[in-house]
Amino acid sequence: MKLSSNKVFNCSVVEVGKVHNQSGNITVVENSKNIPFDVKRIYYLYDVPSGEERGGHAHYDLEQYIIAASGSFDVIIYDGVNKRRISLNNPNKALHIVPGLWRELDNFSSSSICLVLASEKYSEKDYIRDYEVFLNKKR
Ligand code: TYD
Repeated sequence: MKLSSNKVFNCSVVEVGKVHNQSGNITVVENSKNIPFDVKRIYYLYDVPSGEERGGHAHYDLEQYIIAASGSFDVIIYDGVNKRRISLNNPNKALHIVPGLWRELDNFSSSSICLVLASEKYSEKDYIRDYEVFLNKKR
């Protein structure tokens, strides 16, 4: 499988909107409306112990929207040359991660929830979990 030549600059934090109400807010993400891929899988990280890191891999094809549904955390993305650290702390903002980038997540606040909307079903074949392999494929 060929790894995409995407750069960290192809990722962006996008507003996903909010239906505001005195009794609370709703944020809606709907295929063909406010997300640039069709969502095939949803998962969420929670109960991440303080000081713990997640991620530490890249994907060949997977695109994701990553949302701090509660609390805050940082996402570090790396394309083999450039690195960006992006702090997420707002449930109506999504980080769009394109394929072919190394990612790590850290700095989780207590009770944070990392909601991930993914463009593909789970497939271990889509992962690169070895950093040296990732770097070699990016060269
Ligand atoms: P992984 O994607 O490596 O987690 P993170 O990037 O948050 O550190 O997944 C951790 C484990 O969970 C791994 O053994 C595979 C499993 N898993 C699934 O079975 N299905 C899924 O959709 C995901 C995201 C993970």
